[in-house]
Amino acid sequence: MARHESGRNKRGSAAGWRPRTRMVHGGTTRSAYGETSEAMFLTSGYVYEAPEQAEARFKGEDHGYIYSRFGNPTVAMFEQRMCALEGAEAAWATATGMAAVNAALFCQLKSGDRVVAARALFGSNRYILDEILPRFGVKVTMVDGTDLIDWRRALKQRTQVVFLETPSNPGLEIVDLGAVAKLAHAAGAMVVVDNVFATPVLQRPLEMGADVVVYSATKHIDGHGRVLGGVVLGPKEFCDTKVMPFIRHTGPSLSPFNAWVLLKGLETLDLRVRAASETAAALADFLAEQHSVARVLYPGRKDHPQHALAMRQMEMGGTLISIDVGSKEAAFEMLRRLRLVVISNNLGDAKSMVTHPATTTHQRLAPEERAHLGITDGMVRLSVGLEDVEDLRKDLGRALAGLRAGARGRADSAAVVKSKAKTPARTGGRGALRGSGRRR
Ligand SMILES: Cc1ncc(COP(=O)(O)O)c(C=O)c1O
Repeated sequence: MARHESGRNKRGSAAGWRPRTRMVHGGTTRSAYGETSEAMFLTSGYVYEAPEQAEARFKGEDHGYIYSRFGNPTVAMFEQRMCALEGAEAAWATATGMAAVNAALFCQLKSGDRVVAARALFGSNRYILDEILPRFGVKVTMVDGTDLIDWRRALKQRTQVVFLETPSNPGLEIVDLGAVAKLAHAAGAMVVVDNVFATPVLQRPLEMGADVVVYSATKHIDGHGRVLGGVVLGPKEFCDTKVMPFIRHTGPSLSPFNAWVLLKGLETLDLRVRAASETAAALADFLAEQHSVARVLYPGRKDHPQHALAMRQMEMGGTLISIDVGSKEAAFEMLRRLRLVVISNNLGDAKSMVTHPATTTHQRLAPEERAHLGITDGMVRLSVGLEDVEDLRKDLGRALAGLRAGARGRADSAAVVKSKAKTPARTGGRGALRGSGRRR
């Protein structure tokens, strides 16, 4: 393989370190200069000492770099650090989270194959499953991710891939990873988990039976809203024979600059995610007390429908909360009133952010499908950042106080529509919601 393989820290294997140490030191390789901070190799290509060396490298007999679309030392450090963190055998970094999802699916699927997926997914994940894969003759069956009977029914047939998010974006539905992995493996399927909402700090799907984990590193892993990135983690054989050729030849490779930024992000990931999750837990309780909030969804709260399962799978409740304030008007009014929390469709940032999923990330879903997923017009997703909890409480409290259209108990009826009928879906909308009349 023409990829540099010496991504091991000289001072020992990351295997003996606890996760927080792995996030700081995992995968580090130093150049001859002995730099403290990881070197940023901003190079697209590499030179060879002789044509024989170039030939040997292309044959995989010489383990040096060839071209940064295939591999790069800074990107390799990021991949190795992610492996150390996730407990994965191998990883391939990608330019975005969607490139990671796309690579994990397309590298292994072919016409005639079957995918079973949880219905509650990020809009662009739904677009790949609803619109793109079927165009290539892949049959996609959607199930209610929270319903094991539905999974069992769908996985009676031979299946190649199971795809899910847990917690899901934005409904925070929890899928039983161990149980679904068992059913999937019995059907011959590989389980691919988008672990963005839980983060590698709070949940490690590979330990619960999943085969492949994908991340949008754009979110908590960067954590400061600077760069886009993604990563696919899984068994070495799968990564070497499926993911590697797919990425090498289709080109969704991560830039070395972004890899460097992400390496820095990883160093503080554990601290940031735990601090934000603590704040989120306090805010979820605070939000539940507000008269204008009809419903709070937070996996760490006892009233979450799958609280017990969430706490078995995750160390904490996470950094995301969804609330229902009754109507689109109330949601928009709340968003306009916020002074500290910013309106953004992004998440996992040091800055707290609110999104109105129905008009942004999940805008392209048919209304019936949104209703089916519990994405009401009154739903607001809050990504909790690193600000002082008191300042956030004050900002949210002021934005919610006396909200006209919201009323306790008036949760959009769509929230409880859980019809089993399969509804047509057009998804993937990521239109930016710009708050009018904001102070910045
Ligand atoms: C659950 C989930 N998966 C994947 C993505 C896509 O990540 P990216 O924007 O880095 O492509 C997102 C983005 O919001 C997400 O929330």
